[in-house]
Amino acid sequence: MKPETASVHAGTRLDPNTRGVNTPIYTSSAFDYRVQEEPVYPRLFNTVNQQAVVAKLAALESAEDGVLFSSGMGAISTVFLTLLKAGDHVVLQDQIYGGTYAFVANLLERAGISYSFAAPDIASLRAAVTPATRMVYVESPANPLLQVVDLQALAALGQELGITTVIDSTFASPVNQNPLRFGLDVVIHSGTKYLGGHSDLCCGVALGNEALMGQVRQTATYLGGSLDAQSCYLLERSLKTLHVRVQRQNENALFLARALERHPKVQRVYYPGLESHPSHGVARVQMRGFGGMLSFELAADAAAPELFLDRLQLIQPALSLGGVETTICVPALTSHRNLPVAERERQGLTVRTIRLSVGIENAEDLLADIQSAL
Ligand SMILES: Cc1ncc(COP(=O)(O)O)c(C=O)c1O
Repeated sequence: MKPETASVHAGTRLDPNTRGVNTPIYTSSAFDYRVQEEPVYPRLFNTVNQQAVVAKLAALESAEDGVLFSSGMGAISTVFLTLLKAGDHVVLQDQIYGGTYAFVANLLERAGISYSFAAPDIASLRAAVTPATRMVYVESPANPLLQVVDLQALAALGQELGITTVIDSTFASPVNQNPLRFGLDVVIHSGTKYLGGHSDLCCGVALGNEALMGQVRQTATYLGGSLDAQSCYLLERSLKTLHVRVQRQNENALFLARALERHPKVQRVYYPGLESHPSHGVARVQMRGFGGMLSFELAADAAAPELFLDRLQLIQPALSLGGVETTICVPALTSHRNLPVAERERQGLTVRTIRLSVGIENAEDLLADIQSAL
């Protein structure tokens, strides 16, 4: 199946009684243990509704298997605690989601796991590797300046050194890139964003080969964090329109990025689809579309960021991203508020940097709203 077809059809468990076209929602949390080879139970990650979604996501990411969680952080923390043990070391890209940073900074040392941060280029990641390194973790495109990691080179590094490579590919969604195809070992999504796509669902997924996912599922049964049947169904339903949504978001974001780049009140635009973005060359090679996330820096003589946000009529300030509606935030005051100012500025992020999660509305309407507020 081509990806658009897999979005609609892969994994569906048709109801043999009614021949309805959707997977029914099986609400039971207790199953007759005598008729199954292995017991079925939601926290064993093996109910019909969980398996239907995993099969669809695995088809979309070209993965053998996956484990579905009740949040993106559930997926991230479980993968870390599966692949790392006391005495191990992990190298992380220095620009990662704040929640992942907080998990690493607050819990890894307690588990006897050490870590280092490195810039998201292969030479810097390689330089941070020690004899104890068991995992390299990246986020691409990264939040909020959309740096892109060279995935083929990262996979080669992991294979050369015998280190497991893991990517948070949330910003791209499976529509725009498939990291496993480049040879990475594990791909993670916060399904709360593009996979759910309607800002009404919290979930996450880790995908990879059967052996790795078997280990992740085993850890997950200790930690919990499974997704309930109703949410599985909502996610399965959302995924049927994933391609239509994300392709429209790609188009809208590119249109806005080009328009904002020409606007006198905008100092700089960060979007990997623009020739001016430092990662454009790599993004063009490994991404089919450049995504719905873009950031821009207000010019010194533009309105203050808070006033600019207040003036918007259509675009709503909100945390999170990836929904059908366009939302906006100031990362220095939200996702990156806990980062020391010096570190934030070293990364190129200021209080005038604005992050836009572009939705599926009419792009001219979105531009008119931004122009008027500027
Ligand atoms: C890139 C990225 N990864 C992971 C997460 C965590 O996902 P969740 O909030 O579903 O736990 C987020 C949430 O904002 C995110 O933006």
